[in-house]
Amino acid sequence: MFSEKMEQALNQQVNAELYSAYLYLAMAAYFHAMNLNGFANWMMVQNQEETAHAMKFYHFINERGGRVKLAQIDQPTSAWSSPLDVFEATLRHEEKVTGLINNLVDLAMAERDHASNAFLQWFITEQVEEEASANEIIQNLKLAGNDPHSLFMLDRELATRVFTPPAA
Ligand code: FEO
Repeated sequence: MFSEKMEQALNQQVNAELYSAYLYLAMAAYFHAMNLNGFANWMMVQNQEETAHAMKFYHFINERGGRVKLAQIDQPTSAWSSPLDVFEATLRHEEKVTGLINNLVDLAMAERDHASNAFLQWFITEQVEEEASANEIIQNLKLAGNDPHSLFMLDRELATRVFTPPAA
């Protein structure tokens, strides 16, 4: 069993992951409206990943004898000016999530909660990947600039992304 403080913090992370899923769904909708269906697909996969992250926290809270308490999910913004703007917002968001995960690890260490710390290590690694993939697409978009052909090629590439459920 973990502390009440840890239970609360993990519950807040369930909400943060569900908010991430909701944000990426809003981004998918932005791309679908532009007929950039490959970009939209990338965001739909991102939405599935974030839902899976939320469920990892959900199951962990239960496994440790805690109680999952769901809270309201904030409305995501939908005002982006370009695909590059969307991916810069994605990177900023993932950096924020990395900070949240780091705070959780700090709490687990302060409480000598080794089980939570071990559980959270998966997310530390995952965040490195999340930031790297957003950054890679930002670089590609900068290279593409205003060239429609490059944007089209990138859209086709992002159409190939498929969701792989994380290990339990
Ligand atoms: Fe669940 Fe993208 O962090």
